[in-house]
Amino acid sequence: MEKISLDISKTFNTINREQVYALSTAAEAANTALENGTGKGNDFLGWLQLPSSITEDFLDEIQKTADALRTRCEALVVIGIGGSYLGAKAVIDALSGAFDSMDNKKPVIVYAGHNIGEDYLYELSAFLKGKSFGIINISKSGTTTEPALAFRILKKQLEESAGKAEAKNRIVAITDKAKGALRTLATKETYKTFVIPDNVGGRFSVLTPVGLLPVALAGIDIRQLVKGASDMEKASGGQAPFAENIAAQYAATRNILYQQGKKIEILANFNPKLHYVAEWWKQLYGESEGKEHKGIFTASVDFTTDLHSMGQWIQEGERSIFETVISVANPQYKVDVPEDAQDLDGLNYLVGQRLDYVNKMAELGTQMAHVDGGVPNIKITLPKLNAYYIGQLLYFFERACGISGYLLGVNPFDQPGVEAYKKNMFSLLKKPV
Ligand code: PA5
Repeated sequence: MEKISLDISKTFNTINREQVYALSTAAEAANTALENGTGKGNDFLGWLQLPSSITEDFLDEIQKTADALRTRCEALVVIGIGGSYLGAKAVIDALSGAFDSMDNKKPVIVYAGHNIGEDYLYELSAFLKGKSFGIINISKSGTTTEPALAFRILKKQLEESAGKAEAKNRIVAITDKAKGALRTLATKETYKTFVIPDNVGGRFSVLTPVGLLPVALAGIDIRQLVKGASDMEKASGGQAPFAENIAAQYAATRNILYQQGKKIEILANFNPKLHYVAEWWKQLYGESEGKEHKGIFTASVDFTTDLHSMGQWIQEGERSIFETVISVANPQYKVDVPEDAQDLDGLNYLVGQRLDYVNKMAELGTQMAHVDGGVPNIKITLPKLNAYYIGQLLYFFERACGISGYLLGVNPFDQPGVEAYKKNMFSLLKKPV
């Protein structure tokens, strides 16, 4: 199998290979603790062997449900927040045409429940008026305020426009197997449901129905996505030696950089389709490691766009950052720079070159400048942007996150801190206890 690759050599302005390899035993032990279930948070390791345990029958059921919704609906609203939102959004944006939603050929996928913006929901509701739409409601707990509010409003709209009986055919609930308000409602209303396993936390759930159903709806090959993840599961498993395990190497490298005072990791891309992969990654690492007053702060930028805004800070601001770049070796399509007789923009020296050549030179030039400016650079390369390599990438980040959390000494699978704002919000809203 061709694999995504990792290059840590451009961090050696700040750390060195020996320091990274000095962590190899600890990284391998962390990986073994994941495999054996002997580390912290071991009741949330259902994601670890998930890709290889997904059956053909299960994928068939997901695909059949997606196809049925696509037949019935012009638009589909995916409701969810955090781990019940970002994975699907990341994969769909990475692998769909940038203007797909404008060509009316496929069902439009829109999102709700990831904010409480009144204007957003009003505008979404107005957009859905007169359209046959369906809803995938995703909530593991089934009690999260944002998606519950969005579902209440959109379910009413759907039932009023399509009738209660037809609405039931267009609503799918993805939730806990037994508990929570969404499970109770789904049983009462006889909605089609999928289960989020108990032992898979939200931010590790992209390869459960949470991610797979919306991704299948978008017409993306879920079999290739799972195959990529499954191949990476093998390549990064507990038996893989450090020198061959890119997930362990990534975890060790960021740990050493953190020890050297690099407290912020910026995930950068040179392909705008990867914007939401970074949003998903920020949650994965931020929520897994930001504990006990420890942990790298995760940030992200889209290049070259943000070189014209954040480029200055990255080049010359406080030296507390390192950069991880996701690079795509080969674009899907080909665009050449055309000749212009007047050449007023002075670009004729590029005539006949591909746009991707210009982008790659921007990438190389940026790497050289940032490394010179004291920003260590890690590079992850995907041969192409397709479902198979995105599957590899997602699992690579998940496995590395588990190892990295153990190296840091925290439980990477809980999130006690997220309750604090909810407590205050409920008290301010006078929620009955
Ligand atoms: O990773 C997490 O646990 C969170 O981001 C949750 O996924 C998010 O809060 C949504 O929770 P739920 O799926 O229970 O509605």
